[in-house]
Amino acid sequence: MDANGYHEPVLAAEIPDLLVRMPGVYVDGTLGGGGHSRRILEELFRKGFGGQSLLIGIDQDDRALEAAGKRLASFEGNIVLVKGNFGDLRSIVLRVCRERQMAPSLAGMLLDLGVSSAQIDSPERGFSYLHHGPLDMRMDSETVRSAADIVNTMSERELANLFFRYGEEPRSRSIARDIVEYRDRQGPILRTETLAGLIRQREPRQDRVIRTLSRIFQAVRIEVNHELDVLAAALEESAAMLSPGGRLAIISYHSLEDRMVKCFFATRARSDWGPRGVGLREPVRKAEFRIVTRKPVSAGEQEISSNPRARSARLRILEKLAEGEADDLT
Ligand SMILES: C[S@@+](CC[C@H](N)C(=O)[O-])C[C@H]1O[C@@H](n2cnc3c(N)ncnc32)[C@H](O)[C@@H]1O
Repeated sequence: MDANGYHEPVLAAEIPDLLVRMPGVYVDGTLGGGGHSRRILEELFRKGFGGQSLLIGIDQDDRALEAAGKRLASFEGNIVLVKGNFGDLRSIVLRVCRERQMAPSLAGMLLDLGVSSAQIDSPERGFSYLHHGPLDMRMDSETVRSAADIVNTMSERELANLFFRYGEEPRSRSIARDIVEYRDRQGPILRTETLAGLIRQREPRQDRVIRTLSRIFQAVRIEVNHELDVLAAALEESAAMLSPGGRLAIISYHSLEDRMVKCFFATRARSDWGPRGVGLREPVRKAEFRIVTRKPVSAGEQEISSNPRARSARLRILEKLAEGEADDLT
């Protein structure tokens, strides 16, 4: 781990190899400490593409931008770091490319979803049930609603739905009931340890406690940061902005995200043959993309042993086909 709390990035060797195929504009939509960006930039130079390439690094967390700025200082002429949300990809890329007089078409785009080790390991950010801290969980400090706002203002029914939808938590109703009873008796829940304590009481089986805590904290974090909505927007916008041969790489860490990415890729890589049984010789719409990773790429045992977070990582890659390359058989 470096001085800013950032781990070596997950799948650090695979990303540059699978993403960097040509010169052009690359976007790292989840810049974090800049670990993946650095690997991408090194690969661009190694392949001789450096002089014609630009990397746009986006993060909504000021601290991440500061850490990445230091780590990437030697690539000054090839990077633009932007405070923003990858859900606003299109407007960010259009603005930067206009300023740089480059075509706003992407040779590669990376999303390494979720929170960084630096965020999780900072108790004052309130992301972790392992630390005592304010119940915050905002990646962008300007986000209006914190985790405490959500936990203390949603009704019992809304909380149960949230835990079920975004945490896939089987005890969603009873945990929601405990939270509302606690609020009524003792006042608002403002600390991570208070929320974690309530969940621990409800889950009698010690072997299940950690999974329940992870699911509930995950659900609240997704809601605070609108994670699935911005992912849906970014998938659409990045696919629309890829150049022919350009690649979109997504690393996800839980099944909700991974399912969304998998379905999106499958839909985009399929030709539309119209209603069944019509027997068309040509599809109504030819697939414009191909899936590079038929099965998601996961980390090896060695990487997992040095970075346990890598265990749940799933990398999927989609490529925009060059003109005339559309695969009729998909
Ligand atoms: C898993 S970390 C990425 C680590 C990074 N790949 C590296 O090499 O250090 C995710 C980062 O993405 C940022 N992030 C998550 N969702 C975001 C969004 N919708 N828009 C912008 N940044 C986001 C987080 O603030 C965090 O810094």
